[in-house]
Amino acid sequence: MRTQVAIIGAGPAGLLLGHILRRAGVGFVILEQKSREYVLGRVRAGVLEQGSVDILRELGLDADLAARGLTHHGIYLQYEGERHHLDFVDLVGRTVTVYGQQALVRHLLAEHHRIGSDVRFEVDGVTPHDIDTDAPFVTIGGPEGERIDCDIVVGADGYHGVCRPAIPGVQALERSYPYAWLGILADVAPSTDDLIYALHPDGFAMHSMRSREVSRLYLQVDPGESVDDWSDERIWEALQTRLGVPGWTLREGAITEKSITPMRSFVASTLEHGRLFLVGDAGHIVPPTGAKGLNSAIADVALLGRSLAAHFRGDDALLKRYSDSALARQWKVQQFSQWMTEMLHVHREVADEAARAFRYRSQLGQLEYTTGSRHAQAALAEQYAGLPF
Ligand code: FAD
Ligand code: DHB
Repeated sequence: MRTQVAIIGAGPAGLLLGHILRRAGVGFVILEQKSREYVLGRVRAGVLEQGSVDILRELGLDADLAARGLTHHGIYLQYEGERHHLDFVDLVGRTVTVYGQQALVRHLLAEHHRIGSDVRFEVDGVTPHDIDTDAPFVTIGGPEGERIDCDIVVGADGYHGVCRPAIPGVQALERSYPYAWLGILADVAPSTDDLIYALHPDGFAMHSMRSREVSRLYLQVDPGESVDDWSDERIWEALQTRLGVPGWTLREGAITEKSITPMRSFVASTLEHGRLFLVGDAGHIVPPTGAKGLNSAIADVALLGRSLAAHFRGDDALLKRYSDSALARQWKVQQFSQWMTEMLHVHREVADEAARAFRYRSQLGQLEYTTGSRHAQAALAEQYAGLPF
């Protein structure tokens, strides 16, 4: 077959790009290696920046978001048993919206189904070819499989995908962190209005939510740990200890999902090669503190979508700048995510006890400064609510 854009990966990035191209009258196919059920079952991010919400609204993809998204006016930072509220509306005039990635993917897929898009699941052996020529193509299903000729290939295939490694000489700038997040979903009404990010001597903890009936909570754990080490009782005990403040109760409920996520920062040296362009996790990964992974994917896609629409109208100026523009924004996001992460996690990897105590005490200083200075609060709010696309 022949199409204008072959999108590899049906995560939020690939699915959203399809909708933007459709509105620009550009033909596309989306090729996904996993099953539809698997893609719909993945529980991941939960917070949308205002810019992400605005884009979904502009595209008319916000019906479910408008019905189920929860608008939040700020966050709490907690340390030394005290909770401090940062009011984003007061500080920078912006809000964020709690809306699960799972719900977003379900809605984007349902809309593709409704408009009859070509979205294929369980496609094996997706391989881009001749990306540095004017006639790239993608093969699927091995030697006996199909060839898809196209003008542009988009790698929306996440961190473990095939597109980034197809770029000759691509470099990785990256670091890993000596901790991981244990995340749970629980059938219990959230015990807080806004999200709580807490530093406790036992480790980081966080209280988020998915709806008025479902809570999402996270605990810092060691990267080598398995969910089998964490019984439901142990999880609730740790959450009670780390999130507890006088006069407040954390409600408990049945845990319906439990998983451990490693944490890393990663940026590819380029997001383009010839006719191949990378978006989302294929090009960069942030540690989850600060909720930037999904929002970065949406920012890339908004920019690439606009650039491709112009390209197919005969104007290549935006597309030529895509990688530089997306990476310039991404490095600011990387800096913010690393800063939030290091400020809020316990650095057990520091072997020397005095150095470890110094580190912890200076993190408290950082938190005291951040919650105590309106300028520092505004800087956090501006970045958390989202830099312009
Ligand atoms: P993905 O969602 O990874 O989608 C890529 C798609 O490509 C997948 O469907 C994959 O199956 C498919 N694919 C891969 N290889 C191939 C191939 N060879 N051929 C065809 N298809 C392929 N962010 C936050 O902000 N907060 C969080 O709490 C949070 N939690 C996370 C937990 C986990 C376990 C992970 C992995 C990520 C988490 N993130 C979180 C990050 C956020 O979910 C991602 O940034 C977001 O999913 C990026 O979207 P994407 O479409 O670029 O990539
Ligand atoms: C969620 C995840 C995050 O990484 C974050 O910073 C805030 C919320 C969530 O899954 O709800």
